Amino acid sequence: MADFDLPQDSYFLGFDSSTQSLKATILDSNLNIVANELVHFDSELPHYKTKDGVYRDTSVNGRIVSPTLMWVEALDLMFQKLSSKSNVDFGKIAAVSGSGQQHGSVYWKNGSSQVLQSLDPAKPLLAQLGDAFSVKESPIWMDSSTTAQCRELEKAFGGALELARVTGSRAYERFTGPQIKKIFETQPDVYNNTERISLVSSFMASLLLGEYASIDHADGGGMNLMDIKEKTWSKVALEATAPDLESKLGKLAPAYAVAGNIAPYFVDRYKFNKECLVVQWSGDNPNSVAGLTLNIPGDLAISLGTSDTVFMITKDPNPGLEGHVFPNPVDANGYMVMLVYKNGSLTREDVRNRCAEQSWDTFNKFLEQTPPLNGGKIGFYYKEHEILPPLPVGFHRFILENFSENSLDGLKEKEVEEFDAPSEVRALIEGQLLSMRAHAERFGMPSPPKRIIATGGASANHSILNSVASIFGCDVYTVQRPDSASLGAAVRAAHGWLCNEKGGFLPISDMYMSKLEKTSLSCKLSVHAGDQNLSSKYSAIMKKRIEIENRLVEKLGRY
Ligand code: XUL
Repeated sequence: MADFDLPQDSYFLGFDSSTQSLKATILDSNLNIVANELVHFDSELPHYKTKDGVYRDTSVNGRIVSPTLMWVEALDLMFQKLSSKSNVDFGKIAAVSGSGQQHGSVYWKNGSSQVLQSLDPAKPLLAQLGDAFSVKESPIWMDSSTTAQCRELEKAFGGALELARVTGSRAYERFTGPQIKKIFETQPDVYNNTERISLVSSFMASLLLGEYASIDHADGGGMNLMDIKEKTWSKVALEATAPDLESKLGKLAPAYAVAGNIAPYFVDRYKFNKECLVVQWSGDNPNSVAGLTLNIPGDLAISLGTSDTVFMITKDPNPGLEGHVFPNPVDANGYMVMLVYKNGSLTREDVRNRCAEQSWDTFNKFLEQTPPLNGGKIGFYYKEHEILPPLPVGFHRFILENFSENSLDGLKEKEVEEFDAPSEVRALIEGQLLSMRAHAERFGMPSPPKRIIATGGASANHSILNSVASIFGCDVYTVQRPDSASLGAAVRAAHGWLCNEKGGFLPISDMYMSKLEKTSLSCKLSVHAGDQNLSSKYSAIMKKRIEIENRLVEKLGRY
């Protein structure tokens, strides 16, 4: 047997079906990257007319959806690109898995399982699945139109905290349970004409399998429907959501399990080996835990992407009114805790476009030339309804009067209309990072954390990483490639292959620990911790920020 007991000369394929694109990463049996590919929805599939991969429905407050068929066509195009551009020999792929943007849901029409099982390899998927979905526009994680359903679900449990204790989170608008409830309440015929409801992850896995794939335990934690300790559907949640739901959701499965062999469609059309395994897909954030090799409690990961997320792993979760707890996809007894911000890269781009001549160089120059703590200027920038804190679209800017960085005691803030351009850039970045630090500390993050591993597009920006190191007061590491979700999916394909070979769950560290440094998974120290004196000054302004944030929430409430 070769290194890590993975079969020599084999490949492991991981996808990431995310908000703005479909990505793929292929690893060899030494866990080194051999190919990467990307399909960008807006520019490569322009006929769907999405902006940032989504439709923002202006007629319904907070409704944000994506065309389900766009994801199908993206998979057709991805296989084309992998074979013609990257020359991938699909016959070498031993296992495939993937990540889906979390919470998004797909509604298979009655009779579609038949269509899925008899795909004709002579035709693209799109040509055969055009009529397979009862809902054409899938609600996604950016949607915030289900506040009424959230309150009802919490009521059925006797309160938000009780719901969080069972499902890992209080009710959130984007979570799949409230989304399904809304479809049942507003379009009962559509609901009744649905035989299966998939998450984006299990939907894409179903395409590869040629039959409905299970929802895995980790992504299942993002639905407000699963008991995270028992890893079964919660009866109370199912009943409070919609009738006959259990049969439409199907069975749950561990993330490391094999869902089956790849469908004959891919064996015929792309010359996959018929023994190629499909390992359960999972959510993009759970798979990032695998891609970042996060296996030490006290490590903190920050993903700076369309959404910004912060996550840690734990054996002993304590779900509360903030953040989320999901089962860890690569530790059968462990959990991950996570905070999610809706205003990530699209909001950074907005400030760059308005204030920094649409240039990252100018943006970075502004960030570097302004002083830490920004002379007491504090900003809140919500281009989308925010999740944390739950505040509606809007920008709020404050200046601490008589600011001196040595003592903020008793300082009052004054609201202002605008900042100069460089201060606006710093207020945005400091605001996003201080919010992460404050909420992560409330969630039990050690202060300072042992180290931070940064990923996602903006983790390639050194000026932003410098701010991370100063604000959190710890070293910041980065990975070779910022797309940890597709990389993590490929790692999980290998892990699932190994668990299957050994006949049960194996700790993932057995697979890579001894040779981690020689794989594409190793992370490198990127920025040293900023000086501790500065990070304690940030602690003071962070407290101020939270006071202002609490007042904003009191005044403006939810959406
Ligand atoms: C997680 C969340 C987002 C999506 C983005 O709860 O809503 O991070 O997973 O793809």
